[in-house]
Amino acid sequence: FPEVKLQSQELKLCLWCFMKNISRYITDIKPLPPNIKDRLIKIMSMQGRITDSNISEILHPEVQTLDLQSCDISDTALLHLCNCRKLKKLNLNSSKEDRISITSEGRIKAVASSCLYLHEAFLKRCCNLTDDGVLALALNCRLLKVIDLGGCFGITDVSLHALGKNCLFLQCVDFSATQVSDNGVIALVSGPCSKKLEQIHMGYCVNLTDEAVEAVLTCCPQICILLFHGCPLITVDHSREVLEQLVGPNKLKQVTWTVY
Ligand SMILES: *[C@@H]1O[C@H](CO)[C@@H](O)[C@H](O)[C@H]1NC(C)=O
Ligand SMILES: *[C@@H]1O[C@H](CO)[C@@H](O)[C@H](O)[C@H]1NC(C)=O
Ligand SMILES: *[C@@H]1O[C@H](CO)[C@@H](O)[C@H](O)[C@H]1NC(C)=O
Ligand SMILES: *[C@@H]1O[C@H](CO)[C@@H](O)[C@H](O)[C@H]1NC(C)=O
Repeated sequence: FPEVKLQSQELKLCLWCFMKNISRYITDIKPLPPNIKDRLIKIMSMQGRITDSNISEILHPEVQTLDLQSCDISDTALLHLCNCRKLKKLNLNSSKEDRISITSEGRIKAVASSCLYLHEAFLKRCCNLTDDGVLALALNCRLLKVIDLGGCFGITDVSLHALGKNCLFLQCVDFSATQVSDNGVIALVSGPCSKKLEQIHMGYCVNLTDEAVEAVLTCCPQICILLFHGCPLITVDHSREVLEQLVGPNKLKQVTWTVY
């Protein structure tokens, strides 16, 4: 790279050329300055080109956002994330199939104990994640605002208890298609984050009943998105009136349920 200040467009072009021939430059990536690496990370992650074997070349200790949604990575890659102590947003959502290569036994725990400033954790369809991993996140990452555990089928009430007890700033939680029950939802919305919670996605949780919905509506004054479609035991018999009153310009913006 030339030692000159490049204009944004020129830099972009330069990066694209660099990327096209990246295999030739692989040993040159590591020493690049963080701002250039950030651009590379952004492009390469969008293209799904960050892998277990090359993530260590491209990461740097100042990384704050990492979107690995399109990348096929496993626990091995997470190990390298432990050096990114300023990480605020981690997206491990799986865009297509379940992501089976991320496990709690693996590195989520290590990430949780290194990345203490994590605000947003997207773990959608990391189906081998278990309560252990969420517990570690809840205990260490006290600033969590957003956590997406949708489709992580191993998740139970234990996770919701831990999040409710430890994460004071939680605003958005997705635990759809998990094994949670009313007990877990009640624990979550009885915790100190109850006044902050804005979004709860709890569709396709087959054991939830009206009690869970009522607990949310009673405890969470800021709730604006509440999704519980695909929950066969929820009838909204008692809460229908409350729900209908709340749906309006300033309160509930989105609510979904299935009539059985
Ligand atoms: C990482 O590996 C992928 C797949 O082999 C490749 O497309 C990509 O260019 C590599 N990225 C870096 C930074 O070397
Ligand atoms: C995570 O994945 C879900 C479903 O695929 C999607 O709705 C959500 O926007 C994703 N989150 C991010 C930050 O990409
Ligand atoms: C991950 O989940 C898949 C499918 O549910 C299972 O076959 C596999 O054994 C699990 N792997 C680990 C390491 O837990
Ligand atoms: C629902 O609850 C029953 C009884 O406690 C339990 O056996 C079952 O595994 C639960 N189902 C899910 C999907 O959580």
